[in-house]
Amino acid sequence: MQGESKIKYMLDNGTDFRNNEYYFIWGSIVKGLTRNSVCWCGSGLKYKKCHLESDLISSRDAKQPLSLTHGITIKTEKQIEGIRKSCSLTKEILDMVEKRIKPGITTNEINEWVHEYIVSHGAVPAPLNYNGFPKSVCTSINDVICHGIPDDTVLKNGDIVNVDVTTILGGYYGDSGRMFFMGNPSEESGKLVRVAKECLSIGIEQVMPGRDISEIGNAIEKHASMNGFSVVRDYGGHGIGLLFHEEPHIHHYSGKSRGIMMLPNMVFTIEPMINAGKHGSRLLIDNWTAVTVDGKLSAQWEHTVRVTETGVEVLTG
Ligand code: MF3
Ligand code: CO
Ligand code: CO
Repeated sequence: MQGESKIKYMLDNGTDFRNNEYYFIWGSIVKGLTRNSVCWCGSGLKYKKCHLESDLISSRDAKQPLSLTHGITIKTEKQIEGIRKSCSLTKEILDMVEKRIKPGITTNEINEWVHEYIVSHGAVPAPLNYNGFPKSVCTSINDVICHGIPDDTVLKNGDIVNVDVTTILGGYYGDSGRMFFMGNPSEESGKLVRVAKECLSIGIEQVMPGRDISEIGNAIEKHASMNGFSVVRDYGGHGIGLLFHEEPHIHHYSGKSRGIMMLPNMVFTIEPMINAGKHGSRLLIDNWTAVTVDGKLSAQWEHTVRVTETGVEVLTG
């Protein structure tokens, strides 16, 4: 049975899920559910007298294993292959942007480069028309936290710019973003961009099967606050792959467990937005552009990652 082989390789990695705290359903380990606990369906019956048997059957028959709670999809090997390809295209695009971006160009020009590259590689720019977003890429300058809309703004010396690219290739999504300096950074913007990048790496280091997803935000916020910066709470990372934004929502700030354990072949983004001042955000009248409440700088780096059997694969790396 599908379930048993997964249980086995989790055990090979040194974690014993056969204790009372975990039960295996639909391709996932569900924390806190045992044969004798109350069934998840709300019947009030013991799990073994209620849904246990049908869950085991769904687990065996499911074409696409799902985690029981939280609506998180565990990707199949075929889906992972497709997502991996889309993610490498996303990386290529950011490499292309990195070579060409400089003071004097407009964010509209970045949009054209990205759009052209994506469609000429048989892919689709995910942002375009996504919930009405009007362009093919997000460009967020200085105090813009995220979702900046390309326009005729000219990049000038001293600006820090985030370019966030999401491609759909063969139906699969890849999402990644980087920061770029225009000319030489000030001491403050240099430090902010560096610490934001470190926050992404530290977040990625937390990714491991069997760990609670809240460890990502705990580690990121610790590093940001140690450096005197704050972590945006109004936007987060997200499951991705078959859709642009899937469950789970990934918090980049510290908090209690929401009971979500990382499992092999979960795919999600980590994309901490780090502010020089307060963490708060404000939405501009265009209903997309998020800016810092205090007008201070914000920086963001993003990768799409996969939970592997032993740790993490950075798909857009
Ligand atoms: N790429 C962004 C993210 O990381 C989402 C942009 S949505 C858009 O989740 F519509 F603004 F493109
Ligand atoms: Co994202
Ligand atoms: Co993105």
